[in-house]
Amino acid sequence: MTSDSIPVAAPVLNGNERRYVLDCIDSGWISTHGAYVPRFEQAFAEHIGCRHAIGCSNGTAALHLCLAALDIGPGDEVIVPTLTYVATANAVRYLGARPVFVDVEPDIWTLAPVAFAAAVGPRTRAVIPVHLYGHPAAMPEILDIARATGIAVIEDAAQAQGTSLAGRMAGSLGTLAAFSFFGNKTLTCGQGGMVTTDDDRLAERLRHLARVAMHPDRPYWHDEVGYNYRLTNIQAAIGLAQLEQVHWHLERRRAVAAGYRERLAHLPQVRFQQQRADVRHGHWMVNVRIDAADADSIVACRLALSERGVETRVGFPPLHLLPPYAEATPSSFPVAEAVSRESLTLPTHAALTPSQLDRVCDGLAAFLARREASLRPAS
Ligand SMILES: Cc1ncc(COP(=O)(O)O)c(C=O)c1O
Repeated sequence: MTSDSIPVAAPVLNGNERRYVLDCIDSGWISTHGAYVPRFEQAFAEHIGCRHAIGCSNGTAALHLCLAALDIGPGDEVIVPTLTYVATANAVRYLGARPVFVDVEPDIWTLAPVAFAAAVGPRTRAVIPVHLYGHPAAMPEILDIARATGIAVIEDAAQAQGTSLAGRMAGSLGTLAAFSFFGNKTLTCGQGGMVTTDDDRLAERLRHLARVAMHPDRPYWHDEVGYNYRLTNIQAAIGLAQLEQVHWHLERRRAVAAGYRERLAHLPQVRFQQQRADVRHGHWMVNVRIDAADADSIVACRLALSERGVETRVGFPPLHLLPPYAEATPSSFPVAEAVSRESLTLPTHAALTPSQLDRVCDGLAAFLARREASLRPAS
């Protein structure tokens, strides 16, 4: 990458981040105690519109804590869409439970409710809908099925900061929700996570588990095996500063997503994730499907863009094809496999300029024109 390269993701730290971090250093509160942790948690709960927000070390830890707080363990099954980042299934495995994969919907690429309903069995304890790329999963249908079958709903909202459905924020729709503040996320604190919930009992249990299950009044007295999953004051300081600017971050991402749609509208081979009614898309990343692409053509396309200084990513490989999960999952999931095969993730971050968007889109259009020409029979 050179200085005029366009990274696929980049944090923008243009608010109070520096001031708050210096405050942590000057005051000496750099570890897991300090005022920024409760301030960030409270502000995040208000932003989501829920009673509790519990900070933790990253999004994977947040998912792990949600499942642990529900006492999920060996012999239990948790339903997971196969098209997601690996953490969604890993968290289930950490507890000795089994992730049961299901396919996704062809338009929005999130957990297919019909497939979910068919996968519920006597051992199913929970479902983890993932709001992929910032589009909410079909929550009304998923919640109806979960209610009818008595299972918990954990939203994987790692990619869904600022996403809402029918006026309610992602993170306030299920029993529990997990967020990530990794460096490429809409709001970041380098590494960090948050669990949101309205359930007082689960919130208390989660806090306890995240703090090594230490008795609040008896130092070094741990009443069960807990986890050291606390957020640091420095992480919370950065997170709070980012949250103060959340509307700006979201507006910028929406402008970037709209910019791509406008510039690529003339290319019939490029398909976007559709947006359902009543949805406010968080636009974590703009991922497009390139019609009839396979692994080789995606590699060639990424190389062509990289030669123009544009960094891209491939789509997530469906989890049922990854070595830790393949053996236990003999089925195939055609929609997830097709979306993954044809996926190209374009640079998406708050600092992208219109001329950078032009460069990405011109590069993609030029590659596709060359591909079309090479497929045309010679006359
Ligand atoms: C869908 C999903 N779930 C969970 C995570 C895990 O978050 P973290 O990287 O903070 O552990 C991510 C991170 O990218 C994610 O995309």
